[in-house]
Amino acid sequence: MLMHWVIGCVRPRANANPTVSTAAGLTAAAIKRSGVIAPGDGANCESDAPIGLWPAAMRRSRDNRANPPLCSTMSQSAEQTVPPIQINAVFERRAVLRPADACWQPSPLPGVERWMFDRVGGEVARATSLVRYAPGSRFERHVHGGGEEILVLDGVFSDDKGDYSAGTYLRNPPGSAHAPFSREGCLLFVKLRQFAVDDIQPVRIDTRAEPWRQGLVPGLSVMPLHEHNGISTALVRWAPETQFSAHAHPGGEEILVIDGVFRDEFGNYPAGSWLRSPRWSRHAPFTGPEGALIYVKVGHLGAELIGG
Ligand SMILES: [Fe+2]
Ligand SMILES: [Fe+2]
Repeated sequence: MLMHWVIGCVRPRANANPTVSTAAGLTAAAIKRSGVIAPGDGANCESDAPIGLWPAAMRRSRDNRANPPLCSTMSQSAEQTVPPIQINAVFERRAVLRPADACWQPSPLPGVERWMFDRVGGEVARATSLVRYAPGSRFERHVHGGGEEILVLDGVFSDDKGDYSAGTYLRNPPGSAHAPFSREGCLLFVKLRQFAVDDIQPVRIDTRAEPWRQGLVPGLSVMPLHEHNGISTALVRWAPETQFSAHAHPGGEEILVIDGVFRDEFGNYPAGSWLRSPRWSRHAPFTGPEGALIYVKVGHLGAELIGG
């Protein structure tokens, strides 16, 4: 199943004339406050051609026949639980992982594997990961002591409350419980124990059905997903050749590149890349001919969260 939900108007105008009638902002306040959106030039979307889909390598990542080998230095048997480990655990440092860095490990449940982006703790951890379920695999019923945030990237993820196809954004607050599984297999972006104690509202958003808002510069479209105590999460679509002004992230910034190629003065980040930039970091991001679709969270580094 392709990630058809990412197909969108991340496309240049024929004359590349940045004429957007409104600079409404999404999240305008929060995102602007945290520096995600800053003035700049860009292009509107007009053409009918999609910019692309999740790279084939990532689509294959939930297909056991095409799985890349497990990370040799970190692999473990499926019977083992994760020992206390720290991965990109210094949140004052910039962290960047690209698809070529992929390092998949078994989870305690057969057929469920994880690529850990950052992690502080053992099987119970503050953690950010890609998680893939092989077809027919399931996870035992568990309680989310610190909350669980999920973006379904491919396939269909299910639990005892429903089925969630690619493009679904979920927040299971602290104290919630479920028994997840996947009939056809799926690929998820998951963040654990990164809720504030008073963030108790369950969230279910089908991003394929939600409207996009005009971002603060031509060429940007934004879909707010969640906001709480100054922490904002959104999907942001960048038209090709969109340029942002340099801006700071007072509360840090985290990005998962879902489609296209995201760029800044420090490098290029193809689909499947994950970036975490520390508090007060600065950059001037832009896109090239591919455009980009990104998941972005700001304001959470240094915030009071259950997992620290
Ligand atoms: Fe930024
Ligand atoms: Fe869960």
